[in-house]
Amino acid sequence: MMRCEEQLAEPELDKVASLRSQLPESQVLDRSVLAARDPGWDAGNLNAFALVRPGSVADVVELVSWCRAQRCAFVPQGGRTGLVGGAVTTPDQLICDLGALDKIEEIDPDSGIAVVQAGVTLGALQEAAAAFGLHPGLDLAARGSATIGGLIATNAGGITAFRTGVMRHRVLGLEAVLPDGRLVDDMTRVLKTSAGYDVKQLLIGAEGTLGIVTRAVIRLDPLPNGRATALLGLNGAAQALDIVRHLRGGSSPLLAAEIMWSGFAAVTCAAIGLDPAQLPLRSPCLLLVELGGASFEAARTALEEALAALAETEPDLDGVVCTSMAQSAQLWRLREDTDVLYRLHPQAPSYDISLPAREFDAYVARLRPALKAIDPAIEPYLFGHLADGNLHIVLNLSGPLRPDIRAAVDTAIYGELRGLGGSFSAEHGIGNKRIAALQRHADPVKVALMAQIKTLFDPDNLCNPGKIIA
Ligand code: MLT
Ligand code: ZN
Repeated sequence: MMRCEEQLAEPELDKVASLRSQLPESQVLDRSVLAARDPGWDAGNLNAFALVRPGSVADVVELVSWCRAQRCAFVPQGGRTGLVGGAVTTPDQLICDLGALDKIEEIDPDSGIAVVQAGVTLGALQEAAAAFGLHPGLDLAARGSATIGGLIATNAGGITAFRTGVMRHRVLGLEAVLPDGRLVDDMTRVLKTSAGYDVKQLLIGAEGTLGIVTRAVIRLDPLPNGRATALLGLNGAAQALDIVRHLRGGSSPLLAAEIMWSGFAAVTCAAIGLDPAQLPLRSPCLLLVELGGASFEAARTALEEALAALAETEPDLDGVVCTSMAQSAQLWRLREDTDVLYRLHPQAPSYDISLPAREFDAYVARLRPALKAIDPAIEPYLFGHLADGNLHIVLNLSGPLRPDIRAAVDTAIYGELRGLGGSFSAEHGIGNKRIAALQRHADPVKVALMAQIKTLFDPDNLCNPGKIIA
């Protein structure tokens, strides 16, 4: 094995030595160490010359001031689960890894808040809040790795957004280190503060381009003690939406309403080894719904009763209601094991759009032939968060696509979204992968304002450059 000094060029060695003179040595990992690490979702995440793991907020301030003095670009990173290249680095850049800022500082059940450091994983916060019968109001498949700082940076949405909002609705207070080295401390612990421009909201969804989020106050909601899941086979999204409306009108809270088209479910079903004969896989569409209740049994009974009532108006309703939490977990894997798509089709092009859910069927009916007209082999895998109109589209092709094909696919997928009141980027962000789409599909005045805001916060373009703004 080569020693790290042999792998690093002279200027990099100087920078690493300088960093180690200012921050605890153990916090500074150079490129040779990074090469052996898992880069996470994007192979380019760990391309930087070094990674620093600050142990305190003061260390983050120190790191940013070092970067300013050296004119070295820095990229904040959390769990590296982002899907649009928001954490990708180049060899001249430094990673600021927030993973060591992993303390849940406080859970206050009276105010219904948690005070957390940026590197706390969503799963850890969910678990800590659950001990008080509370929930952070956010859930997604990457909960085990995704960090609060990263979820704030991407304004994550996920499974519960239709009920509890997206990340910007969960953040009451925020602390961040700005690109000029100042610490902005807006750790408000209350919902109501109408005090001029809400600067923290600019940092939420900024993907680390306006500063490094270090701490946050997260709003918590009551968590039902039990939950029960059903998987229903349906003829389309409109029927699924009718069922969602019915379930939302009942007395047990609807916790999830995830839609999958059968092509997607067939692939995940095979990959996780579920018996397809036990599932309503012959239907064009599947809906995974979850109700909350005082216990698993109570939630299950409520779900069975609600579905029985539905059967009067939907006599062909087909599906399974889970009989145990273990079975429920299996049904969730059918929806959440999206990695299997990317194993089948490495670097498969993926899209994350939103539009009014009532338009899903018509949109999908137009999309399929439009994609086939580009290449008859294209089949989209379709799944998403029905109740908030978020549709994920993954193509059955290994990427990257030829530029002309990519442009045609982008037009087919994005073309009508703005007119429908939807978005070309629902919950994954812009990163470095959706910059062209932002330029093309967002309001030009808004895009111009975004560039002005970036210049105001980061005139030297040192803070996660090349993301969101070209
Ligand atoms: C999901 O909902 O599973 C993710 O947001 C989408 C994905 O992995 O493509
Ligand atoms: Zn999603």
